[in-house]
Amino acid sequence: MSGTPAACGVPLERAFAALRTLEPGCHACYVYDLDALAARARRFRAAFAALDPLTAFALKANGLPAVLERLRGAGVGAEAGSLGELELAAACGCAAEMRVLNGNGRTPEEADWAAREGVHSVNADHVAELDLLERAAAAHARPLRVALRVNPGIETPGHRYVATGGEEAKFGVSPGEALAAWASRGRWPHLALDGIHLHVGSQLTDPAPLERALEAALGMAEESARRGAPLGLINLGGGFGIAYDGGAEFPLEAWARRLAERVAGGGLAWVLEPGRWLVGPVGVLVAEVLWVKRRDGRRFVVLAAGMNDLLRPALYHARHAIEPLAPRAGASEPAAVVGPLCESADVFAEDAMLPPLEPGDLVAIRDAGAYGAAMASNYNGRGRLAELVASGGKLTRARAGETAADLVARRRNDVLIG
Ligand SMILES: Cc1ncc(COP(=O)(O)O)c(C=O)c1O
Repeated sequence: MSGTPAACGVPLERAFAALRTLEPGCHACYVYDLDALAARARRFRAAFAALDPLTAFALKANGLPAVLERLRGAGVGAEAGSLGELELAAACGCAAEMRVLNGNGRTPEEADWAAREGVHSVNADHVAELDLLERAAAAHARPLRVALRVNPGIETPGHRYVATGGEEAKFGVSPGEALAAWASRGRWPHLALDGIHLHVGSQLTDPAPLERALEAALGMAEESARRGAPLGLINLGGGFGIAYDGGAEFPLEAWARRLAERVAGGGLAWVLEPGRWLVGPVGVLVAEVLWVKRRDGRRFVVLAAGMNDLLRPALYHARHAIEPLAPRAGASEPAAVVGPLCESADVFAEDAMLPPLEPGDLVAIRDAGAYGAAMASNYNGRGRLAELVASGGKLTRARAGETAADLVARRRNDVLIG
């Protein structure tokens, strides 16, 4: 939505005012442009069309049903990392063959669900997990297709909390363990253990790590075939980066062309798991300015939204573009844009260049559609924000904001249990 303070032709100020009529006490909200989301989904699928992969949206990036349903309508499936995300995918109409199960802490309940309800594939994080999946598949007499997540020892740039393929990362098995497991796959007769899964990191703007991941996957597939256990499925995960705050974007089409050329005619099935790329740019966090204070010449702009609403700046030192919805006349000058929580990490920008701002003004925090509302919490006794969706010029409140009364209402669930 960069450039214009509107979602699908609905001005953000009008969206906020409309929400206020429903929720008079609200001071901030998320707004998503569903038409832009569908356009991004089409662009993603068109870019990789030659490979005909399953595009499984990483639900962890944004679990709003309106988002999932719109993606499903655009032919996108779901990548789930928990039982909750599996159930959510199913509730939003995502068919079994469009669901991928991930995660490094597999529970018996997840394994059972996958075998009972059906999934396209499960990415197993370690070899012992295969026994659990085997029992679940046998119990439901339903074969499960399984890819082993491999840690290829590929370092990625950016914050270390979004690097998942380096040797330090907790995810996956070593290439040697994977090759041994594929070669002895007869041990798990109810599993179709013929896949490799790699997800080396998030917010990649340079394709080099993905290129290395691809070569690692192809090399291992070749080696496994040599050992008599050919692979049929490569899942390259997600990681496609977006242009936060004027930064670079992942060169999607160029990389997709390169991938298609590299693997043409290989006869393999493919899965991609984009999260951020699809939904990040189509979401905005709108927040009211509560206070503007000056101390020793420094301007602090205190927003009604904080780190509990958008954790990325505090957790990853991420920076999002911030702009007033109705800029006032006057020179721009630096401002520390902060939230209202009792935490020094509750800072959106140390020195954003912003025009004059007054209490009651609204600002847009851009590119907040991924890992925004999905990571929100009630920390500091704060209700999670309302989420609005715009489509075809119409605005819908897709999720109500939580009020202080909501938090108080569920403060206790005492049950005597011992
Ligand atoms: C296994 C897996 N796949 C896909 C994704 C989505 O990543 P991104 O949002 O960077 O595309 C993640 C995110 O952490 C992940 O852990």
